[in-house]
Amino acid sequence: MCKTTEIQITINKSSLICFLLGGVITAVLFSAIHLNFSLTLDRRWAALRQHVTERALLVPGMGLTPTVPTSNPLTRWALSMPVYSSDTRVLKGEALAALHQAIDAKKNGKKVKALKLFQHALALDPNHADVLNEYGEFLEDEDVVKADHLYTCAVIFNGSHSKALSNLRRTSASVAEIDKQMLDSIDAKHEQFLKISESSRVFERARQEFYYLQVYHTTAIEGNTLTLEQMRSIMETGLAIGGKSILEHNEVLGLELALQYINSTLMQRIGQITVKDILAIHHRVLGHVNPIDAGHVRTSQVFIGGHVPPPSTEIEDLMDEFVEWLNSEEALLLHPVEFAALAHYKLVYIHPFLDGNGRTARLLMNLILMRAGFPPVVVKLSERHTYYETIKMGNLGDLRPFIRFISHSLEDMLDAYIYLDSDPDHSITDVKESEVHVIGPA
Ligand SMILES: *[C@@H]1O[C@H](CO)[C@@H](O)[C@H](O)[C@H]1NC(C)=O
Ligand SMILES: *[C@@H]1O[C@H](CO)[C@@H](O)[C@H](O)[C@H]1NC(C)=O
Ligand SMILES: [Mg+2]
Repeated sequence: MCKTTEIQITINKSSLICFLLGGVITAVLFSAIHLNFSLTLDRRWAALRQHVTERALLVPGMGLTPTVPTSNPLTRWALSMPVYSSDTRVLKGEALAALHQAIDAKKNGKKVKALKLFQHALALDPNHADVLNEYGEFLEDEDVVKADHLYTCAVIFNGSHSKALSNLRRTSASVAEIDKQMLDSIDAKHEQFLKISESSRVFERARQEFYYLQVYHTTAIEGNTLTLEQMRSIMETGLAIGGKSILEHNEVLGLELALQYINSTLMQRIGQITVKDILAIHHRVLGHVNPIDAGHVRTSQVFIGGHVPPPSTEIEDLMDEFVEWLNSEEALLLHPVEFAALAHYKLVYIHPFLDGNGRTARLLMNLILMRAGFPPVVVKLSERHTYYETIKMGNLGDLRPFIRFISHSLEDMLDAYIYLDSDPDHSITDVKESEVHVIGPA
C-alpha cells in the first residue's frame, strides 16, 4: 500500500500511480504531482466556488439563466423543480413589518430585540432577499461567515439585489480566507494524526471507541433509542437487550456489517467507487431491517421536509452521473473534506433509497475520508439540528455551511486523537461518552 502524507493528493490517485509504476519512476512522478499540487491550490478553490455557483444556478426562481447543459439529468431535474414559494401576500406583509421593526430596533441600539425580529422575519419568509440582506448586515460585525451566507442566499433569490451583491463583494474574500484557514488547520492536525503510530495501544483503543460512537450516533440520529452502552453490548456479545425492538437491534447489526464491508473490502481495493459499491453498503445497512428494499433504489416518489427528491425514474441516470463525479478530476481537485461532504450532500439530494439514505451517505463520506488517510467523522446526535439545517442551506444553493459543519466534525475527531496521543495519562474516558469533543486540556 502506498502511503503519502500529502493528503491533498488522494490515496486513490497516488495508489493508482504506485500500482502502475514502481520505485524510481514513482518518486519522479510524485515530485511532479507535488509541483502540480501547488499550482492546483487555486484551481481547487475555483472548482469549489464553481460548484457552489452551479448549484445556485440550478435553483429555479433566482432570476439567472442556467449555463449548464440541460442534457445533464441533475440539471434537468433541478430546473423542473417547483420555484421556492412562500410568497403568499399575507406572509410577505408580516415579514416586511417584522423586518421594518427589526431595522428600527437596530437603529435604536436594541440588539437583542433586533435579533429576535430579524429571526422572526426570516422565519416568516425565508426566501425574501431584503430580509436576508438586512439580517446579514446586522450580523456582519459578529459573524461575517453567516452574514456572507445570508447575502449569498439573498442573491440566489434576487440576482439583481444590488445591496446584497455589493455586501457579498465586501465579505467574500475574507470568508474565503477563513474557510481556507479552516482547511489549513485540518491539514496541520492531519499531519499530527498521521504521526501517531497505528499499532499503539492508544490508537487501537481510540479507534475501537470511535467505532462504537459512529454506530451509536448514526443510528440514533435516525431515531434508534438504544443507548451507546446497549449498542456496544449487542456488538460485543451478540446478546439482545430486553424491552428493545428487533428492528432497533437490526439497525445496529446492519451498520456493523456495513462498516466491516467498507473496512475489509472497499478500503482494501484500489480504484473507482461504483454504483454497485454504494448499493452494497446500503444492502448491509438495511439488510436485516428490510431485506426487500436493501441494496435497491426506490421505485416511488418520496417527500422529505421541504425537499422533493428527484422522481424514481431519474435515479439510475442520476446515480451514474453521481459516480462519474465521484471519480472525476473535478472531485480530486477538492480538499478531501470538501469532497467527502459534497459526496454526502449529493447522495442525500438524490435520495436513491426509500430508507437508509442518511446512514449510507455518512458511510460513503467516511469511506472517502478514510481513503484520504483521515479518521471517519462522527455526526453527533446533539448536532442533528445543525446537520439538517446546513443540508437545507445546500438545497438553497449555498453548500459551504454543510462543508464547514463536516470540517468541524473532522477537526473534533483529529483533536480527540491528538489529545489522547499527547500524554499517556490522557484517557479515553476524558473524551465524553456521547461526544467526541475533547474535554480535557487540549
Ligand atoms: C430585486 O432587488 C432589487 C433591489 O436591489 C429590486 O428593485 C427588485 O424589485 C428585486 N426583484 C424582485 C423580483 O424582488
Ligand atoms: C479493519 O481491517 C483490518 C485489516 O483488514 C483489521 O485489522 C481491523 O481490525 C479492521 N477493523 C475493524 C474495525 O473491523
Ligand atoms: Mg430513515
